[in-house]
Amino acid sequence: MVHTVSDEQASIGRLAGLMKEPPAVGPTGRPLTEFPVPAPLASHGPARVIAMVNQKGGVGKTTSTINLAAALAEYGRKVLLVDFDPQGALSAGFGANPHELDLTVYNVLMDRKVDIREAIQATGIENIDLLPANIDLSAAEVQLVNEVAREQVLDRALRRVSDDYDVILIDCQPSLGLLTVNALTAAHGVIIPLIAEFFALRAVALLVETIEKVQDRINPRLEVDGVLATMYDARTLHSREVLGRLLEAFGDKVFETVIKRTIKFADATVAAEPITTYAATHPGAEAYRNLARELISRGGAP
Ligand SMILES: Nc1ncnc2c1ncn2[C@@H]1O[C@H](COP(=O)(O)OP(=O)(O)OP(=O)(O)O)[C@@H](O)[C@H]1O
Ligand SMILES: [Mg+2]
Repeated sequence: MVHTVSDEQASIGRLAGLMKEPPAVGPTGRPLTEFPVPAPLASHGPARVIAMVNQKGGVGKTTSTINLAAALAEYGRKVLLVDFDPQGALSAGFGANPHELDLTVYNVLMDRKVDIREAIQATGIENIDLLPANIDLSAAEVQLVNEVAREQVLDRALRRVSDDYDVILIDCQPSLGLLTVNALTAAHGVIIPLIAEFFALRAVALLVETIEKVQDRINPRLEVDGVLATMYDARTLHSREVLGRLLEAFGDKVFETVIKRTIKFADATVAAEPITTYAATHPGAEAYRNLARELISRGGAP
């Protein structure tokens, strides 16, 4: 039989078809769920507090905080974002100029006379407020050491506004120091964003130890809401294998929703916008909406 060019094109077409991911199965190998759109809330508060934690840098904590908040806000949830990183990336993500901030989370922590409400800002996005941070916060780690009940300082401050919000998301710095312990003490739940890479797993073991210590000694209500795979690349065997290992280690705690690697997140950061408004129909925006719905359907948010 003589092969023609169109035969070859047809087989290339078939091959491309075979290489596409089967649509019915999600990256975690379980059936891909479109989580249901949550019912609107009749009233607001008290807030469920969620700390976004991983002591490894650059894993998508801040990106996930911004975009999960934006998605929750789209579903009518009132969200307070707490920038708990002296780098202030979350604050910058909403266009706050670090040098022009009058009051930040640092003042709220260190000066009992400062009312948290004075430091909270509107973000320009409906349903999202921000408690900003700047480099001042780096001093708090040292200064707090001498405080009475030094692990509870953030918790005490957030309680004052808990009734105004449905969810409070704390964007932690990449460390397991006293600030992060404060976040874990204030939190009901922890979300662990991580890149699907093998050495990511080692960092998580240490993080889980810290979470268990805080549960044991200070905050028994604390639970892990979920592990979020970020910057996932479905084309690499490595990404898929790591996800497999994550599922072995954390089972149902791994969010069904996986965030794929895309440059759009960096573009949105430059524009100081969540991806849900910067590129509202982009798969990355859809992924964070699905994460918000998954979190709500798990009881991780009202
Ligand atoms: N899904 C993604 N695809 C591609 N790039 C991403 C994705 N998520 C985040 N990024 C980019 O990766 C970088 C690190 O992300 P991000 O700042 O959210 O991490 P982080 O964990 O908060 O870092 P740090 O520990 O320094 O606070 C940023 O440049 C961000 O734009
Ligand atoms: Mg960050």
